[in-house]
Amino acid sequence: MAKERLQKVMASAGVASRRQCEELILDGVVRVNRRVVDELPAFVDPDSDVITVDGRRIKLAERVYYLLNKPKGVICTNRDPQKRRRAIDLVPSSERVFCIGRLDADTTGLIILTNDAELTNQLTHPRYKVPKTYIATVKGRVDGQAVEKLKKGIWLAEGKTGKAVVKVIKAGHQESRLEITIGQGLTRQVRRMLARVGIPVKTLKRVSIGKLKMRNLSVGAYRPLTRAEVAALKRGVKA
Ligand code: URA
Repeated sequence: MAKERLQKVMASAGVASRRQCEELILDGVVRVNRRVVDELPAFVDPDSDVITVDGRRIKLAERVYYLLNKPKGVICTNRDPQKRRRAIDLVPSSERVFCIGRLDADTTGLIILTNDAELTNQLTHPRYKVPKTYIATVKGRVDGQAVEKLKKGIWLAEGKTGKAVVKVIKAGHQESRLEITIGQGLTRQVRRMLARVGIPVKTLKRVSIGKLKMRNLSVGAYRPLTRAEVAALKRGVKA
């Protein structure tokens, strides 16, 4: 497990604000594995180190990680004035979880839910380009030029999107299917990219996030991530 700043771990356990925790550390009332730690910076492993403040052990919320196959109409924010069904409503957890990134309401597929704010910040930072693969079912036949444009990057309001891996996996008169892999996570990025090249989307589904694949997770179902999967995600943000 990665080392984290002591004051941050204390703050996330509800001891006090980060600033106040720094003062507690400098005051010499904090011990890590029985040893007083009164200098900063100090780093701990929240999974294995025993941290006490004034002799009392701090209790950390267990980190939880789930993979959900989000159905259509379900939203990824925790607060919704319109009271629509939320992804967190589908994953009963004793911990308060949130989505890592977003899928728009109409898009189905894989989304990670966790209470690990650190990993969430890292994975959603533009610096980390975790590849995400989508299957878009679109109207009509897709022309080769449009596919080439998608691969090279498309100008959106935020700038030009990065290179995409695009495969036509079904080409029909009525309907075609594209597999699109992108590294960024701009709002409604795939839909906007396809709209820019004049391809009307019927459905959009995310089928992988990094090494995490849909496999046999049915729509609306979820499963906890394995330790190895969590470790791989964390390695991915350090690479
Ligand atoms: N691109 C989209 O258009 N929608 C999503 O939810 C994710 C990527």
